[in-house]
Amino acid sequence: MKKLISLLLVLAMALALVACGASEPAATEAPKADAPAAAPEAPAAEVTTYDVGVAIYQYNDNFMTLYRQEIEAYFKTLETDTVKYNVTMVDSKNDMAEQTNQIDTFITQGMDVIILNLVQTSSAEVLIDKVVAAGIPCILINREPLGDNGDESYPGIINNPTVCYVGADARQSGTMQGNLILALDNKGDLNGDGVVKYIMVIGDPENPDAQYRTEKSIQAMTDAGVAVECLVENVGNWDQTKGQEITAAALAQFGDEIEVVFCNNDGMALGAAASIEAAGRVVGEDIYLVGVDAIPEAIELIKNGAMTGTVLNDHIGQSHAAVDAAVAALNGEELQNYYWVDYVMVDAAYVAAN
Ligand code: GAL
Repeated sequence: MKKLISLLLVLAMALALVACGASEPAATEAPKADAPAAAPEAPAAEVTTYDVGVAIYQYNDNFMTLYRQEIEAYFKTLETDTVKYNVTMVDSKNDMAEQTNQIDTFITQGMDVIILNLVQTSSAEVLIDKVVAAGIPCILINREPLGDNGDESYPGIINNPTVCYVGADARQSGTMQGNLILALDNKGDLNGDGVVKYIMVIGDPENPDAQYRTEKSIQAMTDAGVAVECLVENVGNWDQTKGQEITAAALAQFGDEIEVVFCNNDGMALGAAASIEAAGRVVGEDIYLVGVDAIPEAIELIKNGAMTGTVLNDHIGQSHAAVDAAVAALNGEELQNYYWVDYVMVDAAYVAAN
């Protein structure tokens, strides 16, 4: 709970005050042993410490690692002499039962605000209900629970003024992935047969980020009148090793037929890049590869030509927006239902210019 600690800002000074420009006391004057020795006591400053609970769906995730580190760093920058944030961050290890226990513990500990990166968006209601019932504001991040129509009207968010979601619109990232391929002279059709053949490496199929990126990347292509054919669609759970395995298997099965590798995130794209290289294929020459996130390793690959492009999933913008929302809630300000941060298309030209 919020702690109010009184501190003395100014130590009493042991010097007697001497009027400016006053002359030295005459040698004959008796020392004023009983004169007041200290300045009037300064008013005590109050330090408010807020307890913040942060549950991250899984620490072992390239993008969420950058995100969670920035949450901690940004809270630090907002501290002042009188306001402190005591951040307790936990790894939910991709385990819903574990996360539920962690939220119960946060509630028992009396957190002042909770930042929650859900393990399963389908379990959002249970957790939100608990946190709201405990009177604690709840900032949902990164994994968006969708409303009944698959849109931004999740009841637990729109009906609770102390609950909000901070994130990026995954549809945008999917469309940008498609646009990265459309921007190529051949629009991805390397062999010129009129059909772009691709594989899709999917994140976590329960997660709207994965669903929308899978759908919208291809929709961008077909909306532009490009014919496509999916050779393989497989779940890699955002994981680099799985991305590598899926791509290796697809290359072994379909070889030169594969023209584009779409990965729902950069983690899996890093794995795909390794398999592409191991298969003797060359990105930009006989295959294309796109991801999402713009993690530093992916930017390096784009610089070296080993990835066609990615989409910046702005972990700085999102973590700051989440912390700002938490602070607003702590200050008793009204929260919006949703806070959105834009994605940015990242190709070789963008990397060279930034
Ligand atoms: C996505 C991100 C993925 C992964 C996922 C976790 O936004 O692109 O790399 O971190 O969130 O939910």
